[in-house]
Amino acid sequence: MGLKFAQIGIGNWGKNIFRNFYNLNEVDMLAVSDLDDGILKGLKANYPGVETTQNAQLILNNPAIDAVVIATVPETHFEFARQALENNKHVFVEKPMTLKSQTGEILVELAEKNRLKLMVGHILEYHPAYLKVKAYLDSGELGEVRYLYSTRVNLGVVRKKENALWSLAPHDISIALMLLGKNPSRVVCTGQSYLQPGIEDVAFAMVHFPNGKMAQLHVSWLDPHKIRKLTVVGSKKMVVLDDMESTEKIRLYDKGVDLKEDFTGYQEALTLRVGDIHIPKLTMQEPLKLECQHFVDSILNDTPPRSDGFDGLQVVKILEAADKSLKNHGEPVEIL
Ligand SMILES: NC(=O)c1ccc[n+]([C@@H]2O[C@H](COP(=O)([O-])OP(=O)(O)OC[C@H]3O[C@@H](n4cnc5c(N)ncnc54)[C@H](O)[C@@H]3O)[C@@H](O)[C@H]2O)c1
Repeated sequence: MGLKFAQIGIGNWGKNIFRNFYNLNEVDMLAVSDLDDGILKGLKANYPGVETTQNAQLILNNPAIDAVVIATVPETHFEFARQALENNKHVFVEKPMTLKSQTGEILVELAEKNRLKLMVGHILEYHPAYLKVKAYLDSGELGEVRYLYSTRVNLGVVRKKENALWSLAPHDISIALMLLGKNPSRVVCTGQSYLQPGIEDVAFAMVHFPNGKMAQLHVSWLDPHKIRKLTVVGSKKMVVLDDMESTEKIRLYDKGVDLKEDFTGYQEALTLRVGDIHIPKLTMQEPLKLECQHFVDSILNDTPPRSDGFDGLQVVKILEAADKSLKNHGEPVEIL
């Protein structure tokens, strides 16, 4: 007997999530809901055993369902997740978890109170290449991590309600938190709307951490290049992850600036070190499949998911602060 699952939202991304959960041995996908009847008819033709409905309440109120997957548009995440948690169901919700930290806090408390798993779709936290970068940090290979910067730009998908920050940056913020620590102190963000008034197409956010570390994130859906790149600079080595590369995604540079111990003046003491470049072999698996399996395992083993509600909430807090800074021409905003 598998875990009884249902999913709300089978759009462009939801389709992929559905396929992955459906294919897991431990999951019985009982029902799906979407407002679009055409989507439901298409799904029913391929998966006749799955119930389809335009009314998500039938899923949320069904006591037979153990876990609900929410892959609808962000403005609906909170209400669906709240109802599911109140009705004793585990929740997998796509990013961003909510649009306000206040509602995010409600979800975290509800999950804790009802002893349910709440996991957010921060997919990069399950991506083998990003996990390799984390392993370099954890093993001390990079030395002390100084700062990182990431670029996530492309032409499209242009969203109509949320800006590029809310649409694209949750991934990079979740990685910055995974690598630099869960509690940044301050964010400075600038950006512009060119296509739709009030909806920024491009944003540059600088997230500062209490220990002097920082993460610069550049996101845009108005760019000629498709770039998904992360650079992490450590005191011993530096690593670059290029997710557009099919096999050689990571390059570890033995580069740095050493400081002689018995120095008298900085000019003489700083020596550049330029050594080998290492390209590790990665065993790639579909990150979404790993993410879905992780959610199922966390339910079955009663272990906290890596991208749990707290992680989702921290990402929302940073988005909220960055958005405030963006609207105030780059004014620094403290993250509480
Ligand atoms: N993790 C990732 O890499 C990734 C990638 C893309 C999108 N996403 C996230 O996934 C979510 C969905 O994105 P998308 O690109 O699939 O959007 P989409 O607009 O293609 O799909 C959303 C679907 O939700 C349905 N829906 C909306 N309100 C509903 C309701 N009340 N009841 C039932 N169905 C409803 C819509 O009919 C639509 O089919 C968003 O939160 C987005 O940020 C994550």
